[in-house]
Parts: sequence; structure tokens; C-alpha cells
Amino acid sequence: MKINWSPVATATTAAALLASAGTAQAQSANPNAGRALAATCTTCHGTDGRSVGGVPPSIAGMNRDVMVQQMKDFRDGKRPATIMHQHAKGYTDAQFVLIADYFANVKPGSAPARAGGY
Ligand code: HEC
Repeated sequence: MKINWSPVATATTAAALLASAGTAQAQSANPNAGRALAATCTTCHGTDGRSVGGVPPSIAGMNRDVMVQQMKDFRDGKRPATIMHQHAKGYTDAQFVLIADYFANVKPGSAPARAGGY
């Protein structure tokens, strides 16, 4: 039997890829929305969510769904916290997704040592 590399399958895959790219664009009409919201977190969690010394924990590269869930848990008082339960109250579910999307796409790692040694 001759192996048939089906052009239909290839076209379907390409269409699926295009469709998912389209969805991603539609979800964040303003590509900077997540980044702008995430900026409020970096004061404590470090530049791009890479914290210095792990306190508070680094959130760079954190799984998107895990972060969204944690933010909801903080907001709803399901997870005890010193700060985050207060901070999480200021956002909608949609904003949690934008923020989590942003951090999920940041490469994890510790903050680089600052130039100048301070
Ligand atoms: C004022 C400082 C501060 C700000 C601002 C802040 N955080 Fe936090 N974050 C903390 C602290 C401290 C903890 C540890 C839990 C606690 O005690 O509240 C924490 C914990 C977390 C955790 C849990 C991480 C883990 O691995 O358990 C997530 C997720 C998180 N923060 C996300 C965010 C996001 C997203 C924002 C911005 C919308 C944000 N934080 C803004 C201080 C802050």
C-alpha cells in the first residue's frame, strides 16, 4: 500500500494553527494590556516576576491556569496570605487571565545581579 501524505490533513493542521493564532489575537486586542497590569506585581515580585532571593516567590514562567486559580483563591480567601488576598481583590477574572498570560510567557529564572553592585 502506498503511504498517502494527505494534503487534506496538512491543510487541516494549517487551518487549525491559523484559527488558534486568530483566537489569541482576538483575546488580547491590546497586546500591552497584560504587561501593564503585570507591572503592578513586579514591585514586589521583581522585574518580570523574577524575585530576588525568592521572597516573595518568583512568578515568572508560572503556569497560566495555576496562577489564575491562585489569584482567585487569594481573592476569595481560600488561600491564607499576608498581602495577596488584599491585592487580588482589585482585579476581574479577565484581568487575572491577562496577567497570568503575561507571566506564563516570561522565562523563569532569578533576577540578574544589578550592575554597580548595589
Ligand atoms: C505588595 C507586594 C505584592 C504585590 C504588589 C503582589 N504580590 Fe503576589 N505575593 C506577595 C507575597 C508576600 C506573597 C506570598 C503570599 C502572601 O503572604 O501574601 C505573594 C504570592 C503570590 C503568588 C503565589 C506564588 C506561589 O508560588 O505560591 C502569586 C501567584 C502571586 N503572588 C501573584 C501576584 C500577581 C499576579 C500580582 C499582581 C497582580 C502580585 N502577586 C502582586 C506580594 C505581592
